[in-house]
This record gives sequence, structure tokens and C-alpha cells, in this order.
Amino acid sequence: MAITAIKGFNDILPTESGRWQHIEQTARRVFELNGFSEIRVPVMEKTELFSRSIGDATDIVEKEMYTFIDKGENSITLRPEGTAGVMRAFIEHKLYAQDPVAKLYYLGPMFRYERPQKGRYRQFHQIGAEITGVHDPLADAQVLNMLVQFFRATGLDEPQLQINSLGCPECRPGYRAALVGFLESRLDQLCEDCKRRFSTNPLRVLDCKVPGCVEATIGAPSVLDHLCGGCQDHFTGVQGYLDSTATPYSINPRMVRGLDYYTRTTFEMVTGLLGSQSAVAAGGRYDGLISQLGGPAIPGIGFAMGLERVALLLGAQEFSIRPDLFIATLGAGERSFAFRLMHDLLRAGIRVEMDYDGKSLKSQMRRADKLKARYSLVIGENEVNSGTGAMKRMEDGTQTELPLRAEDIMRVLS
Ligand code: HAM
Repeated sequence: MAITAIKGFNDILPTESGRWQHIEQTARRVFELNGFSEIRVPVMEKTELFSRSIGDATDIVEKEMYTFIDKGENSITLRPEGTAGVMRAFIEHKLYAQDPVAKLYYLGPMFRYERPQKGRYRQFHQIGAEITGVHDPLADAQVLNMLVQFFRATGLDEPQLQINSLGCPECRPGYRAALVGFLESRLDQLCEDCKRRFSTNPLRVLDCKVPGCVEATIGAPSVLDHLCGGCQDHFTGVQGYLDSTATPYSINPRMVRGLDYYTRTTFEMVTGLLGSQSAVAAGGRYDGLISQLGGPAIPGIGFAMGLERVALLLGAQEFSIRPDLFIATLGAGERSFAFRLMHDLLRAGIRVEMDYDGKSLKSQMRRADKLKARYSLVIGENEVNSGTGAMKRMEDGTQTELPLRAEDIMRVLS
């Protein structure tokens, strides 16, 4: 029996890779425009890095990590997200030594042992960006504007920006206590997971999709009513900057995140088009994370988007690469002439395809159609002897006679 891929791990086939490249190239362009540089970190880290940063009482660390003991008896984990590894590298290489303000972006596969469904996989891909070293809400607003700018540049205007503030170590305990007080009398309405979360991570109850939990949390206290003065001012500052650039957003006080490192601003880009997987991108501020990982007290903020989800939103749009020219040959004698011409054109940066195995002219032209070539050129004995030929524009059949030299062909193509 043929071997298949692991459940929840996908192949990205040539029919889809054009769309992926479009997303990746747009992200690189928009992020680099905003002054971000790429950082590449390993796909595996010591398990402790994730438990210490994401938090022991999160679904990710409790249930979803691909963790194993390697041959040296070390506990290793396939990264479930990018921020922890990037901050580990930021600290390890003292990237803050010259300037605490670093703007970094990364892309690559992440791994979570979740139940696979549309938009949720066990290997998925994130493109993320992080800014360190800025306390001012200006950094929050720049990151948010960059995210909105990215979606517009990709051709998507649907995901909506939602923001919230989760407070800080000073004010969150007060909110937590208020929420626990509210949930206490409704414990029997909660699902088994939330009964457990009630004591380990009560804020997560607000995020549960089980109808009983949704109902039980109607009227729950809002985190925004419990912010301390500093967090309140920060959140007002973020909104002020977003308003000043007319960036559309809504406030969602029920948005809690699945990772424990967040402080103050959190946000998600949400869509109604992907069923229950509504977050296409998400992130927030993590002012305590770098010091928690053994680095200096430097704040940070960032986000990551799920490439699979962005690709699903882009749908069936055509992103395949079309050849500029398809060269067909009438007989074996012309193939070496055609091959030389193709070589010259490729060197000049023209996308050329030719027939590889001497098929009939009809089947060669079918292939030109299938590849969606812009032009075709048939080379027979006459063309080889005269050094001239006719390029046909596939769209409307217009023919152009020309010498069969790279510079003349390029003129017609331009
Ligand atoms: P996250 O919310 O866990 O945040 O993931 C960010 C995005 O990754 C999600 O909004 C979703 O689009 C995508 N994603 C997550 N899990 C899956 C999955 N199983 N299958 C497909 N896509 C998925 C983080 O990972 C944070 N590190 C974001 C961040 C960066 N915060 C600050 N900086």
C-alpha cells in the first residue's frame, strides 16, 4: 500500500503554491517597507522555552505540543508558535545591546496537535512580526496598521480588526478575581474543560465555543472595567493612533488569547468566512516575556497570521505563473534550433516552454493552451532556414512576423 502523509500535515501542490508565494511576497514587501528584517530560527527548541513563555495552563502546552525525548535524553518540542523562539534568539544573541528597538519578521511551519478541520492543521504556517523596546502605544498602532495594510495589499478587505486590553500584572489579578466570583455560581453550566480552566486559567472560559459556556458567560465582568490607570491610558493611546489613521477596528472585551505572555493590547483579524476558525491573524503586547525568559526588561508586541487561512480566503484566484512564449517544433530537426532559442530567451529573463518529446503539433498547441502561454511560435524547416517566424498572440490569434532573435522576440513581448 502507498504511504500517505501524516494526518493534519499537508502538501502544498504546484496549483496552490502561486497563491502562497503571493502571500509571502506581499508580507515581505509590506513588512520590509515598515522597517522589519527577517529572522530565521530553528523549528525545534527546548520544551522549557514554550512552557515558560506560552504558559503551563494553556491548551497549547497542556495538550497540543509535539514533544519528544531525543537521543541525548533532552526534552525537545516542535515549535507551536514563533514568538518564543524569536525572543530566545533576541536574548541569546543580545540583539538589544546596540538598540533595544528591533523589528523582526519570520515565516515557517508551526506544529500543534489539534483536531484537524478546515483552517486548522497539525502542521501549519505562520508569518509573524515582532517589535521590541517600545512602551508607547505607537508600536501597537504601527503593528496593527501594518497588518491591515498587508491584507489590503493581498487583495483581501474582509478580515476585521478587533482589539482588547488584557491589563498587566498589576490589574489583571483584580479582574481575574471578579471573573472567578461571577463564574463560581455558574460552574455546573460549564463544560468539563472550562471547569478545569476555572481554577487554572479562568479567562479562557470566555473563549470557549461550547454553547453552555457561551450562555453561562453572558453578562460576565469586562476586563476593560478593571484596567489600572496605566493600562487604561495605553489602550486609549492605541485607539487614538488608530483613529488618526482612519484604521477601522472594533473593541471586543471578550477576546482572551490562548497564550499567557500577553499584557495590555491584544488583537485579532477575524473573518466570518472560515467557519469556526475565525482568526486569520492574532497577536498582542508581551511586556514581561523577555525578562521572564532571562533577558532584560524590554517590552514587545507582535502578531502572527496563519498562511493556510489567508490562502483559503484568497480562494480560487489565479496566481499560477504563465509562460510568455511556448515554442512548438514541427520535426526532430528543428529541436536543437528551438532549444538554443529557448536558452537565449531564458538568459534574457523570458519565461519560455517548449515541447520535450516530439508530440504532434496539435498536442503541442494543446499544451501551450493548458499552460496559458501568452504567445506561441511554431518552428519548422522554413523558420530554421530563413531565421524568421511568426509569433501568435494566444488571446486573439494575432500573428507578428519577426527575425527569431532574442531581442526581436523581447520587443514583441513587451
Ligand atoms: P496564535 O493566535 O496562537 O498566536 O496563532 C496566530 C495565528 O496562527 C492564528 O490566528 C491562526 O491564523 C494561525 N493558527 C494557529 N493555529 C493554527 C492551526 N492549528 N492551523 C492553522 N492555523 C493556525 C500566536 O501564535 C502568537 N505567537 C502570535 C503573536 C506574535 N503574538 C505576539 N507576537
